Amino acid sequence: MAAAAAAAEQGVDAARKEEEEEQVVNPWEVSAGKGGIDYDKLVDQFGCQRIDDALVDRIARLTARPPHCFLRRGLFFAHRDLNEILDLYENGQKFYLYTGRGPSSEALHLGHLIPFMFTKYLQEAFKVPLVIQLTDDEKYLWKNLTIQESKRLARENAKDIIACGFDIERTFIFSDFSFVGGAFYENMMQVARCVTMNKAIGIFGFNLEDHIRKVSFPPVQAVPSFPSSFPHLFAGKDQLRCLIPCAIDQDPYFRMTRDVAPRIGYQKPSLIESRFFPALQGENTKMSASDANSAIYVTDSAKEIKTKVNKYAFSGGQDSIEFHRKLGANLDVDVPIKYLNFFLEDDDELAHIKKEYKEGRMLTGEVKQRLIAVLSEIVARHQRARAQVTEEMVDAFMAVRPLPNMFG
Ligand code: TRP
Repeated sequence: MAAAAAAAEQGVDAARKEEEEEQVVNPWEVSAGKGGIDYDKLVDQFGCQRIDDALVDRIARLTARPPHCFLRRGLFFAHRDLNEILDLYENGQKFYLYTGRGPSSEALHLGHLIPFMFTKYLQEAFKVPLVIQLTDDEKYLWKNLTIQESKRLARENAKDIIACGFDIERTFIFSDFSFVGGAFYENMMQVARCVTMNKAIGIFGFNLEDHIRKVSFPPVQAVPSFPSSFPHLFAGKDQLRCLIPCAIDQDPYFRMTRDVAPRIGYQKPSLIESRFFPALQGENTKMSASDANSAIYVTDSAKEIKTKVNKYAFSGGQDSIEFHRKLGANLDVDVPIKYLNFFLEDDDELAHIKKEYKEGRMLTGEVKQRLIAVLSEIVARHQRARAQVTEEMVDAFMAVRPLPNMFG
């Protein structure tokens, strides 16, 4: 082959490679470029704002309690108009929280629980009502599930959500298949009429081979941001503000929502957004439902947790003890440290472990041992709580009912 042709070929390969390494983040696909997700780029691209120390301090001050470690350690790292919510809260007004889950699998891993653990903290700290959407319709449309199976998974997942400790006096959980209709549906129509195909393709990347119900799904996830979608909760409170805690891959839905809201006379929802929880194998791999060894599941036994952490958690330590003592660990890539960062609440202990490990005095095995203890406790606590959740409790959380003390 002529040298020029070979060079051209190489050029094509390089371009393809670059394309493959381009990060993709949307509600249905999260793939990192080389070296993991570039969150700065994502914030710029999406147009959200970073959460800085001043904002964390402000939340601590207004709620008169220490900020959740997901917040003070940067797991929840971006927002949209959070200050506006805090301004009105400071003036004695309330708001409501909205979050959700697409019930695509029976077993949840720790990454799935993060938004709910965090939302529970927000609900407690601000004493506000919360609506939780289970998008069983979304998972029927995107995954290879029957309607019956999606609905069953929604109920099973509701048990794990309830086990996070939500206050039944302030929480309404609903499944789309059972709840969509009435005022909620009217809002969906108003939103849908404001979004052209061009716009939907631009935001979500739909293509002409996608079936037509995918294209029309986004209004379903948009409208819980509007209080009038819940007349049994918020009748006469059409301008009540909404705060949405979510992972940043959900941002496209709410970009669309915020774009449409003023055009139909509603307030834009505010957001507080998290990074992704890393897989055991490291930041640039993905936790996968089909690989049980890529994540810690809430159903794992203490023994399974121990094996997974010891065997699969990617270590930033050196290959030999000798080298490790000399060079110390690379904390930037070390998964046990990342997990401890999210789940070890004691700031002093965390700082101590980081220092000792980084300077080679602590070994990977010791750090892992601490992590195993921390995770086993969280998982055991969750399992105990979930075992207490009865079918009646699920019915009670999902009943369409007023919540008379929701702001109390
Ligand atoms: N689409 C989300 C998922 O697949 C579920 C969801 C619905 C959601 N409404 C939400 C998540 C609001 C966060 C906030 O998991």
